[in-house]
Amino acid sequence: MNTREWLRTEATLSLERLLPRVLAELEAARHHDPTGYVRFEARLKREWPRLFELLLDLYGQQYDFFYHLEAILLSTARAWASRRPALRALDEAREAEPTWFQQQTMVGAVLYIDLFAGTLTGLRERLPYLKQLGITYLHLMPLFLAPEGKNDGGYAVSSYRTVQPELGTMEELAELADTFREQGISLVVDFVFNHTSDEHEWAQRARAGEARYEQFYFIFPDRTIPDQYDLTLREIFPTVRRGNFTWDEAMGRWIWTTFNSFQWDLNYANPEVFRVMGEELLFLANVGVEVLRLDAVAFVWKRLGTNCENQPEAHKIIQAYNALTRIACPALLFKSEAIVHPDEVVKYIDQGEAQLSYNPLLMALCWEALATREVRLLAHSLSTRWRIAEGCSWVNYLRGHDDIGWTFDDDDARALQIDPWGHRQFLNAFYTGDHPASFARGVPFQANPATGDARISGTLASLAGLEAAMQQRDLRLIDLAVRRILLLHSIILSAGGMPLIYLGDEVATLNNYDYLYDPAQADDSRWIHRVRFNWEEHARWRDPELPEGKIFHELQRLIALRKSQPALAGMHLEVFATGNAHLLGYVRRHKGSRLVIIANVSELPQQLEANLLRLHGSGYRFRDLVSGNDIEASGTLSVEAYQFFWLERL
Ligand code: GLC
Repeated sequence: MNTREWLRTEATLSLERLLPRVLAELEAARHHDPTGYVRFEARLKREWPRLFELLLDLYGQQYDFFYHLEAILLSTARAWASRRPALRALDEAREAEPTWFQQQTMVGAVLYIDLFAGTLTGLRERLPYLKQLGITYLHLMPLFLAPEGKNDGGYAVSSYRTVQPELGTMEELAELADTFREQGISLVVDFVFNHTSDEHEWAQRARAGEARYEQFYFIFPDRTIPDQYDLTLREIFPTVRRGNFTWDEAMGRWIWTTFNSFQWDLNYANPEVFRVMGEELLFLANVGVEVLRLDAVAFVWKRLGTNCENQPEAHKIIQAYNALTRIACPALLFKSEAIVHPDEVVKYIDQGEAQLSYNPLLMALCWEALATREVRLLAHSLSTRWRIAEGCSWVNYLRGHDDIGWTFDDDDARALQIDPWGHRQFLNAFYTGDHPASFARGVPFQANPATGDARISGTLASLAGLEAAMQQRDLRLIDLAVRRILLLHSIILSAGGMPLIYLGDEVATLNNYDYLYDPAQADDSRWIHRVRFNWEEHARWRDPELPEGKIFHELQRLIALRKSQPALAGMHLEVFATGNAHLLGYVRRHKGSRLVIIANVSELPQQLEANLLRLHGSGYRFRDLVSGNDIEASGTLSVEAYQFFWLERL
């Protein structure tokens, strides 16, 4: 018998042994929903061999492996049993149409509840605004119980089952999820699973010396082991603390903290951690959210002598969690937040792992193209690095609550005669306004003097030049900034995958420097772009004569246009050479529909050989859906400053 056959047999035998336990556990639920149960059991049988193998790989050496296996299975079964009928109906609908999120009608947005609407109730009242924009996917930034004061914007979670009291309650979140779903908006929340806050009950019990909880984290009596790890680890927040370990005064020991000192890394080599965090995951699924954003996925497995990022076991953990969701709550999707090298980002994307993923490369290179006024690195990376696993989707964004890191591949840059290190230095100088050709008003984030590395904070509008232009009261510069902002959005709305708008960007929110006066924020420049929504300014957004109004109005129009174009569904993207260093060209095709997109990333008008449209658009006459103008594919075509065309063949 080969290993594969052996595994199959073992998996089957183990399920045969465990099924009676599951049946006993689900007695009542089965009675209530016999057809639902049949489906559950079918999914369990389908997923079991995969789950069994993954867990065996991860935890097979544990003497009590089968005990953990059973506990994980029972947790999953209980999660199905407590799933509401409406969510079970959703499970069925999504299973019948598993790539629903690839439709061109999908448009995402992300917000902080307190900054956008105060509370969950306040958010409900803003539903008309979200509908007006055309949002169908809404990521609520961390809303869970977190320490007062510093909590990394909520990414230090003290309880996954409690909403931060100022924002509302879990019941309200569940009701909101139902209402929004009925209105065509899928809710998304974070699953912050790499670490808990140091105020989480588990952390407190570890601190108090309870052996069971000490094993949830990485705790060391002295520096011997931390020093060995630190040799090969990156520093993610070097301005907070050097190295990756924090001395905990109360415990008198060192604790692994990849991010802030109050964020304790969980130890996934402990199967109990896998199970209890799996229970939190399934709990959130049952609240009614449809997507979990898997925070900091790259870091969840540690291995001495490596940088402890993107380890094979990190993938297995996520795949095993994916299997649990397929069994208990198949409507749920994962979105991977892997802000790492592009080669690694794509490895998390799979129907059996994370179906959605942020696209940090597109994000960084959009900004890179604006700074250089050239598309070569963007075009090269799009043509070689776009493809991901079938049935999955990029989430394309321009700004978020985090910084911008220059995450392109060094060899991609070298292939284009770009020196990667020098280029990153240039981009940092450009976006902090420290370059003569810069229009941007950004600030550095986590500048590391030891490595010369830095990332960039700033709102989209400030980085795109609106802040400087408004201060100079220069109408021409304001106009250019507005055009840049629309051009960027045109790219994420048309490139393939789901666009994600950081709310506030649609009304050109500028940097807010107040964070410098708040001790809980002053050392984290990302607060410059986490700005309270100023609803008083609403009138400005309605006035298309003002930059805010123009952006809001045009963006709304582009979103509606995207939704009307079947060619923009799916993920198919063909980048072509435009023969002009400043023009990006690509074709989007889906089920017989086709659009040709052209974008000028410079402030000077550019010429395009119109013949290229014949070649790539297979036609002679086109309508630009953005301006409504008709275009003939002959001679040269002029593309104005930051203009973009969405061309449909006539
Ligand atoms: C993710 C979040 C970021 C946070 C970090 C630690 O990268 O987006 O805001 O600081 O994880 O949780």
